[in-house]
Amino acid sequence: MMAFLNTLLIIFLFLFRTGSLSVTDSITSLNSALSDDITLVSKGGNFELGFFSPSASQNRYLGIWYKNIPVRTVVWVANGCSPINGSSGLLAINDTGHLTLLDQHKNVVWTTMSLIKQARKPMVELLDSGNLVVREVEDTNPENYLWQSFDYPSDALLPGMKLGWDLRTGLNRRISSWKTWDDPCPANFSWGVEFYKNHDVFPDTNLRKGSVIYSRSGPWIGVKYSGAPALKPNPIYNFTFINNDDEVYYTFDLKNKSVVSRIVVNETTSTWERKMWSEREQRWVTYFTNPSDRCDFYDVCGVNGNCVISSSPICQCLKGFRPKSQQQWDSADWSQGCVRKVPLSCMNKHKDGFFKLSGLKLPDTKRSWVKKDMNLKDCRATCLNNCSCMAYSNTDIREQGSGCAIWFDNLMDIRQIAGGGGLDLYIRMPESELGRDDRKVKIVVIVVIGGMSVMIFLGYYFYRRDVKDKTYINKRITDRNGSQEEELELPLFDLSTINVATDYFSASNKLGEGGFGPVYLGKLDDGQEIAVKRLSMSSGQGLNELKNEVKLIAQLQHRNLVKLLGCCVQGDDNMLVYEYMPNTSLDFFIFDKKQGKLLEWSKRFQIICGIAKGLVYLHEDSRLRIIHRDLKASNILLDKEMNPKISDFGLARIFGGDQIEDRTNRVIGTFGYMAPEYISDGVFSTKSDVFSFGVLMLEIISGKKTRGFHDENQGLTLIGHNNFIYFQAWTLFKEGRPFELIDNYVISSYENLQKVLRCINISLLCVQQSHVDRPAMSSVVLMLGSHNELPQPNLPGYLMDIDLTIKDHSGTKPDSSSINGMSITVLEAR
Ligand SMILES: *[C@@H]1O[C@H](CO)[C@@H](O)[C@H](O)[C@H]1NC(C)=O
Ligand SMILES: *[C@@H]1O[C@H](CO)[C@@H](O)[C@H](O)[C@H]1NC(C)=O
Ligand SMILES: *[C@@H]1O[C@H](CO)[C@@H](O)[C@H](O)[C@H]1NC(C)=O
Repeated sequence: MMAFLNTLLIIFLFLFRTGSLSVTDSITSLNSALSDDITLVSKGGNFELGFFSPSASQNRYLGIWYKNIPVRTVVWVANGCSPINGSSGLLAINDTGHLTLLDQHKNVVWTTMSLIKQARKPMVELLDSGNLVVREVEDTNPENYLWQSFDYPSDALLPGMKLGWDLRTGLNRRISSWKTWDDPCPANFSWGVEFYKNHDVFPDTNLRKGSVIYSRSGPWIGVKYSGAPALKPNPIYNFTFINNDDEVYYTFDLKNKSVVSRIVVNETTSTWERKMWSEREQRWVTYFTNPSDRCDFYDVCGVNGNCVISSSPICQCLKGFRPKSQQQWDSADWSQGCVRKVPLSCMNKHKDGFFKLSGLKLPDTKRSWVKKDMNLKDCRATCLNNCSCMAYSNTDIREQGSGCAIWFDNLMDIRQIAGGGGLDLYIRMPESELGRDDRKVKIVVIVVIGGMSVMIFLGYYFYRRDVKDKTYINKRITDRNGSQEEELELPLFDLSTINVATDYFSASNKLGEGGFGPVYLGKLDDGQEIAVKRLSMSSGQGLNELKNEVKLIAQLQHRNLVKLLGCCVQGDDNMLVYEYMPNTSLDFFIFDKKQGKLLEWSKRFQIICGIAKGLVYLHEDSRLRIIHRDLKASNILLDKEMNPKISDFGLARIFGGDQIEDRTNRVIGTFGYMAPEYISDGVFSTKSDVFSFGVLMLEIISGKKTRGFHDENQGLTLIGHNNFIYFQAWTLFKEGRPFELIDNYVISSYENLQKVLRCINISLLCVQQSHVDRPAMSSVVLMLGSHNELPQPNLPGYLMDIDLTIKDHSGTKPDSSSINGMSITVLEAR
């Protein structure tokens, strides 16, 4: 040790401190060192090494940061926990190849002690990858680096870095959060690869808080992590997981070297996240964040539980299991987990079988055993042969599955992956349990069939009632069908029934305010929950809309349209009774940060497809052709399973057989969703609905509202088309950066990026300025479902050169909320 310090001392005597020298390319052993006023820049200029202070304090740290990013972003720190006071720090390399950091008293605050090999003629170089390496001057082979900072990461995983194990040296690389934004000392959270040397376990990847597992990505199953759904090749980066005798690690690499991206562990948010530098916004944008929902947290549901984010409560016991303590379970305390309903009959192997469960994140692999070259049949046999074996699966999803992993004892940290697509997990069950469930299914089927017959039978008794009013809509139907009067097949509710159901329209039952009046929650005698839309009495306008809606919806049946259960017309009271949608409407989710997190991409995609199918039905498949005219986020209701249902047909119009467009002087709709030809000329068609759908899709993707602007003095003014989401989207798309549109929470990972980008492209086709260019809804559905190449979109609709005056029904100026939120916006085109 003494000799080591002596050598350092000698180096000091030779150091030349050159204040004027600002940037050196590399420092080599004997004649140069790095002082506080000098930085080292990588050859291509990507990264810079030097001293920095994260705060205004005197604390100086040696670190590496991006040279070209205006927001100082440090990706590696040498002396995170032992800052140097003041600017007298010095980085030196001695002739044995050790890098050493000295403070003002020439004390060593940090050194690369782990170096094994002795150096002959060492040098230090900062590579363009951000890797600080010590190597022999003449040897550039990465295999022979004497030391590299990539082996001792801080909070960031850069492209090319390995996260995980070098089994030859026992080195384990995990990335760890900073304590606070101004203290780079490694803190609680670390993300890395879990591996137990000399045990044949299935490697897992997780986020730890201290030594406790906080969240798992699950084992790698050949092309992706089991707990990171639909991880797919994407246009931004390649990624892989290496698992051989020498190394077990995860790494990624950017496809386009001018893109800047890193994975970082964040103490504040308790997450690990993928960040991308947005050139346009000049800030870091988060694309992946984990944990991203409650089910991502480790062991939420206890042993043998399954976390299902869309169910309520989110925890369920696996098939064949029941809560250990029903009472605790019912009070949402799932910590005790689940136990078997019927114990395994282990010794008599013929009595055990397996349940296949699909679409799960595989259980914690701590108590697992893995054999890469064993097939599924042998895997099953191996499992049956060991009484502690609880489950088995393949280890690799490629080529219909290969490899064998088995789990012992209780199964931990399982969740349902939305969209499925993982490996099947076979869970051991006593045969009696398997049989019993088969019977159950049969009984359920019989009950369902029986129930349906009763319902069909009851259907004959539905009250029929003629509606005498001949409205515009009514006339059209009559013309087309040649019949005299329109018949309405819809149950009528008594006012008294509705009164009781809604507790006399009590304030506590009010769900909200729709376009034409308040909406109340009600409960019928039989327990069915209903939503009652009460037509406001003051609004004479509303009656026609109500009748319109009744006639329309009564004839429409589709799983993506809200279902009208009946109506109530009694004196001045006019009401519509709908099925109740517990999850309210789409705007509640997509525009809200907190709620938005609950709606991951696969769900959003489902919603987009659902709305599209509902529209195809309206436009093409129902026996009428219906233009909705007011498609927007708040008119999309969500049922228990988050299936979208188009609602609010108050403004809808019916077209005759071959009519394709119509014109109105009363342009009604919601600003920001209306097609340009509709606003300017009052022309509406299926293509104006397509336009609104495109806007809606962009909102779902971006989490941002499309906007129209309102100025106090001038009524409606449109401050530049840049304020419209479709214009933003189009600009980003044309500039090759469409991903910057995507909401942080929409895509909790890059997995689905390609699909999202495809959806952006489709949206832009829908919002094209010329309605002729826009695809029909049926084509949109095809595009959503296929991988064919998409056409390039033309300029989107914009409204700059249209002079508008705005009036509401009473002729007074509307307030801004009615413009941005409600439907009753009447614009009169010149
Ligand atoms: C890489 O990205 C830059 C900037 O985003 C872009 O200008 C360039 O065309 C891209 N290169 C390739 C090969 O895609
Ligand atoms: C961690 O998250 C906080 C809060 O979102 C943010 O301000 C901070 O910049 C993040 N830190 C890093 C290293 O990304
Ligand atoms: C079952 O597996 C466990 C865990 O690997 C092992 O400890 C035990 O010896 C095995 N039992 C039998 C009977 O093979």
